[in-house]
Amino acid sequence: MRTLCHRRSFSLNYKVAFRSYVSTCRAVLLPRFGGPEVLQLHSNVQLPHLKPNEVLVRAHAVSINPLDTRMRSGYGRSIFGPLLPIILGRDVSGEVEAIGASVRSLSVGQEVFGALHPTAIRGTYTDYAILSEDELTSKPKSLSHVEASAIPFAALTAWRALKSTARISEGQRILVVGGGGAVGFAAVQLAVATGCHVTTTCGNQSVDRMLKAGAEQAVDYVAEDVELAIKGKFDAVLDTIGAPQTEQMGINFLKRGGHYMTLQGEAASFADRYGLAFGLPAATAFQLMKQIQYRYSHGIDYSWTYMRADSDGLFEIRKLCEAGKMKIPVDKSFPITQVKEAHEAKDRKLIPGKVILEL
Ligand SMILES: NC(=O)c1ccc[n+]([C@@H]2O[C@H](COP(=O)([O-])OP(=O)(O)OC[C@H]3O[C@@H](n4cnc5c(N)ncnc54)[C@H](OP(=O)(O)O)[C@@H]3O)[C@@H](O)[C@H]2O)c1
Repeated sequence: MRTLCHRRSFSLNYKVAFRSYVSTCRAVLLPRFGGPEVLQLHSNVQLPHLKPNEVLVRAHAVSINPLDTRMRSGYGRSIFGPLLPIILGRDVSGEVEAIGASVRSLSVGQEVFGALHPTAIRGTYTDYAILSEDELTSKPKSLSHVEASAIPFAALTAWRALKSTARISEGQRILVVGGGGAVGFAAVQLAVATGCHVTTTCGNQSVDRMLKAGAEQAVDYVAEDVELAIKGKFDAVLDTIGAPQTEQMGINFLKRGGHYMTLQGEAASFADRYGLAFGLPAATAFQLMKQIQYRYSHGIDYSWTYMRADSDGLFEIRKLCEAGKMKIPVDKSFPITQVKEAHEAKDRKLIPGKVILEL
């Protein structure tokens, strides 16, 4: 990799602390929306200047999230279309190469992991990712870069829903619809670590993993009738699938005052369909309508939840990883030069679990 990046050595200056200064690097660009074939690996992409709160991370591994393949195919085109070419990728695990002037908690050479916000346009599919200080923390020593890169985006999504939105607490009953996926499994582990009683739905191949992670019940959604197999009511339901039937089921399983959270918010789809000016207010109105409807019909809180950078959350996630209580299995890793093959494999559902790109 080093031969592909143009590096100049400097000493510390007043603006940015760095070990070496990199001006260009490899990055996977998305010049237009489409299939995996539109992805282009360029070797001389200009690096922007670091802002005071930013950190330049020499990436070792980045994970592929469903958002990447959806963005590549045109999801969010009303937001991202005018900004093309963009760089995909949310998660990163690597080493701090340089820090902005106001960064205090991280230092050059430190191993870190973290994730960008869903709308970031300079993603992590690059040798040098740029994240703000609060989007990063020390990489758990017990995890390799490949293992670490699978965690932050999914775990922060689960964190936002369970901890910030539903504010789950010890002793509560939590249902995770789709525990077999990365967000779902992170949610199961977070809820178990909080001392909740966890039930989840997942494919047959994931049942043992859920029970081993501490779920009290793992229902195979293919072979079993989920609504008959699960008993009683829950304080919170995180629906990582967000289909009409899982939404209805999740809502029916809630106690009065409980929280239903779906990850399939419609803001980007509405904006794509009706344009930003009409689509975003229409999405807000639609969500409000559902909130009011379910508050009156079932006495529950309904929300679309999104991943958001949360430095306290990331810190706690790191602690859980270090304690062996949070891990997301990696199915396969590809070198970044095979990014098209990796996206192809995800599109065609050839690899069910996490796929990582190594740099
Ligand atoms: N709103 C946000 O900010 C945000 C952030 C991250 C992700 N997301 C969205 O959340 C979803 C999950 O993301 P992810 O990273 O966890 O994806 P993922 O790792 O690809 O997981 C998807 C899993 O869902 C399971 N599944 C499919 N249909 C199911 C059903 N009817 N019942 C139960 N489980 C079912 C499958 O698990 P089995 O193998 O067990 O069958 C599959 O592996 C994606 O749609 C993604 O776009 C949203």
